Amino acid sequence: MNHISMDTGVEVAVLNDFDILFPAKEDLSLPYRQLFPLITNAANTPFHAILPHRIKENINSLKQVLSHQLGAQFQVLYAMKTNRSAALVKAAAEEGIGIDVSSLEEFQLALTQGVNGRQCSLSGPFKSEAFLTLALRQEARIVVDSDEELLQIQCLASSIRKSARVLLRWNAEQPHTRFGMNKEKLKAASLFADSLSNIELEGAGFHLSGYCPLERGKALSELLDIADALRFGADIRWKAINIGGGYPLRYVEEATWRRFQNAIDKEDFAAGRMPKSFYPYWHPDTMETAVEKVLKEGGNAARLKANRIELIVEPGRALTDGAGFTTFEVLGTKTTNAGDYCVIVKGLSFSFSETWFNSEFIVDPLHLPVSEESTDSFIPVRAYIAGQSCLEEDVLTYRKVPFSQMPKAGDLLVFNNTAGYLMDLLETRFHGLPIPNKVVLDNKEDSFLIEEVRG
Ligand SMILES: Cc1ncc(COP(=O)(O)O)c(C=O)c1O
Repeated sequence: MNHISMDTGVEVAVLNDFDILFPAKEDLSLPYRQLFPLITNAANTPFHAILPHRIKENINSLKQVLSHQLGAQFQVLYAMKTNRSAALVKAAAEEGIGIDVSSLEEFQLALTQGVNGRQCSLSGPFKSEAFLTLALRQEARIVVDSDEELLQIQCLASSIRKSARVLLRWNAEQPHTRFGMNKEKLKAASLFADSLSNIELEGAGFHLSGYCPLERGKALSELLDIADALRFGADIRWKAINIGGGYPLRYVEEATWRRFQNAIDKEDFAAGRMPKSFYPYWHPDTMETAVEKVLKEGGNAARLKANRIELIVEPGRALTDGAGFTTFEVLGTKTTNAGDYCVIVKGLSFSFSETWFNSEFIVDPLHLPVSEESTDSFIPVRAYIAGQSCLEEDVLTYRKVPFSQMPKAGDLLVFNNTAGYLMDLLETRFHGLPIPNKVVLDNKEDSFLIEEVRG
């Protein structure tokens, strides 16, 4: 583990058994270390760092793959539920992509950050009247979850004399989802939508859980079959198909992921609380190769082009790869009655949410001591990390993380690559604590901006 003194910025190489076991693919915080004293002073801790230039890189790389396969017949949406940072949404707007919005508040934020309303797409099982009304006025696409919702939207659209641009959500035959319609309902809803005034049926879409490109490819082929059947059987022409999100990314290198899978065991977790499964922190595919596979399957790319159907993709997590990190400050350390070391940080695990999903963020945090000490005095330890609240479950990582010296009050712990669902999904003002600031860092590495805090 390399320790970098916050006082001097001097790097001290320390190598022993307690070195970082599972390093991040990239230390995103490294270029900004000289700003840390200023940031912690101005933004307090914990803070989330947002790197908008990184989402731009990801957007461009995805666009490249799609345009190579489909020419101009595609649309990329950023699924804002992943991270509601205004800076990320603004970066998406600057790259000319749209936003998948799931609430009036997300939609309003997208519009204020310069996203074109027609490039937004609404998702969710039922949407509020205010949300739908704004969508109708802005001519956003609405992904309709059920025939019941379709009728509701039609009533609203006709009452304000607007036309709703509609995609119907297919459940892709996933038995355990409450979202979307099965094939029969989807076909019936297509015929029904086509017959309704104030409804412009543009196509259909799905979102699958998991990250398998082959499953997505097969689902897209099936949807293209339905599109063919509707075209030949009822002269209904779809203009667009939305294949949702769920593209992989790599938080760690392959060797690290394999080592993690082989080396980890119950003993490595406080109270033996090892999750049953982990998010795939490394995946054989990247976002780009996954999209290529989806399009290759069953000749999907050629079928989309031949039928002039626009492909919509709405990744969340994969677009935020590398677009942020989270820093906590140590309040103190203790030995629990079970004999484990526990590091308590200022703030809550709601700002780093993995354990709340019965999982664990496998990437080791970086430890930045507040002051330099002689390496002779280092006593390596393994410690788990908890938040400052009175909740037993307020734990950032049950895994006993290796530290080459025991963290102490004022030290910082940096968790890399947290922009995807880890930062703000669960944040609350529990105990009256403030919601952590988001600090926007650009690639010039010499300044920062504090984003307005949203609830
Ligand atoms: C409808 C829809 N689209 C897109 C996404 C984004 O998925 P991911 O972050 O896995 O790319 C989600 C995530 O839940 C979703 O429900």
